[in-house]
Amino acid sequence: MPLINKRLLTAAEMLRQSESVADIGTDHALLPIHIVKKGIAKRVIACDIATGPLEVAKKNIEKYNLSENIELRLADGLKGLREKECDQITILGMGGETIAGIIEDTPWVKKPDVSLILQPMSCDDRLRSYLCEKGFNIVTEKAVFSQGRIYTVIKAVYTGQIHSFSPHFIYVGRLLEADGEQLVTNLSYAEKHLKSMKKCFIDIQGVDRRKDLYEKLSKAIPALEKDIERAKRRI
Ligand SMILES: C[S@@+](CC[C@H](N)C(=O)[O-])C[C@H]1O[C@@H](n2cnc3c(N)ncnc32)[C@H](O)[C@@H]1O
Repeated sequence: MPLINKRLLTAAEMLRQSESVADIGTDHALLPIHIVKKGIAKRVIACDIATGPLEVAKKNIEKYNLSENIELRLADGLKGLREKECDQITILGMGGETIAGIIEDTPWVKKPDVSLILQPMSCDDRLRSYLCEKGFNIVTEKAVFSQGRIYTVIKAVYTGQIHSFSPHFIYVGRLLEADGEQLVTNLSYAEKHLKSMKKCFIDIQGVDRRKDLYEKLSKAIPALEKDIERAKRRI
């Protein structure tokens, strides 16, 4: 059996070879173990806010004899890390707003030489919107089916430039720019999103305090429909 599932594997594949990676919210530390075993980085700093997950992580790391390569730290977000300790950061399996909050609390990640690999479990639109508004470029994004669910994994780098983006970009990011098999998976993610956007659009119709979202969706839905149709013709 592979050590990690396809969701974690997709994130690992977005990493380049480097000296040191930080995994925030490491839980079981399976991603850090994979990173070291595959030679992606010699050292991983694995952080978690809770002691329970770190105990599980410690056992797993010892099982693979990697205590010298993987350092565990009890810390909230990136607060347990110093600048220059790593140049790639993974934050996976948390809500999009939590991930955005962790990034926002850490000014030193706003540097072009720091790559962020992010996998939101929810509110991915808020995470993309945060990244775009704060000058991060979404370099790539991949959807992945893993353990009966579909996820998206985002790679982002700070450029400091705030680009204008299409009304639906925050809902699907760069997913529709893919090709071949990856585009087929990405389309599943985009269609799932479109369905929930349409449901939300109907639900909030006439609700005064959701007027802004209603207007946003009234532009994003037809634009996304068009892009999905265009992408389907490329399969
Ligand atoms: C659902 S698990 C995800 C584990 C692993 N990253 C994965 O994707 O399989 C979320 C983990 O993040 C940790 N966590 C939640 N908020 C955190 C924060 N602000 N800083 C660090 N860890 C956090 C939790 O304790 C938990 O172990």
